[in-house]
Amino acid sequence: MSLLNVSFSPDFLLSSREDKESHFDACVVIDVLRATSTIVTALSNGASEVLPVLNLEDAIEFDKKGYLIGGERGGIKPSGFALGNSPVEYRMDVVMNKRICLTTTNGTKALINARKLASDIYVASFLNLSATVEKLSKYENIAIICAGNDGDVSYEDTQLAGCIVEKLHAIRGYDLSDSALIAFNLWQKLGRPQFTGSHARKLIKLGFERDVEYCSSIDVNSIVALYDGEVIRKFEG
Ligand code: MLT
Repeated sequence: MSLLNVSFSPDFLLSSREDKESHFDACVVIDVLRATSTIVTALSNGASEVLPVLNLEDAIEFDKKGYLIGGERGGIKPSGFALGNSPVEYRMDVVMNKRICLTTTNGTKALINARKLASDIYVASFLNLSATVEKLSKYENIAIICAGNDGDVSYEDTQLAGCIVEKLHAIRGYDLSDSALIAFNLWQKLGRPQFTGSHARKLIKLGFERDVEYCSSIDVNSIVALYDGEVIRKFEG
């Protein structure tokens, strides 16, 4: 039977499955505010690839190799970086044909952790919702990994997880884990993205209200973003 499982933070699924069969057919990583929204925007505006790395120092090494380096710490662009983690910075005139190296607090870490769970790893946001769901529906057992906030649950990530669960379940009647049921029921209650969680409030305080608004837009593009364990590229075909 096909199964949908949601991890509310990147560590949760890994630790809860240490003694179990830990491989899924696919996993999808979510960091709605803002890393996965930024990645999807960069690819949709012509970036050739996005390379997620854990540390600022690693990114700086890739700067020397000709990558455009982007990311945040505490929501803010690190010093010496070309770009922050605001999707609206990743415009066509900035990223077209560029290789991007990205490091963010939770999002890039979640992607890197997801390599332990599956070899096909997709990158989801509300911006590329339908294209991602269509691609995921070809798989049986799927782990939906929320990047969360520093090990804690994220309200916005959980909403997208629930929305993906709802759509996938409608396509092929997957079995839902308890975590998938929780996310599904939250999304059914809300019915649309409602970004009022702690990280949304923090971003608004930092002046990123426009990002919060943009990241809640559904199906702005039809990008399927696939992480092969090294780089994220637009999936074609
Ligand atoms: C993260 O990876 O923690 C986020 O994307 C933070 C942010 O909003 O920039």
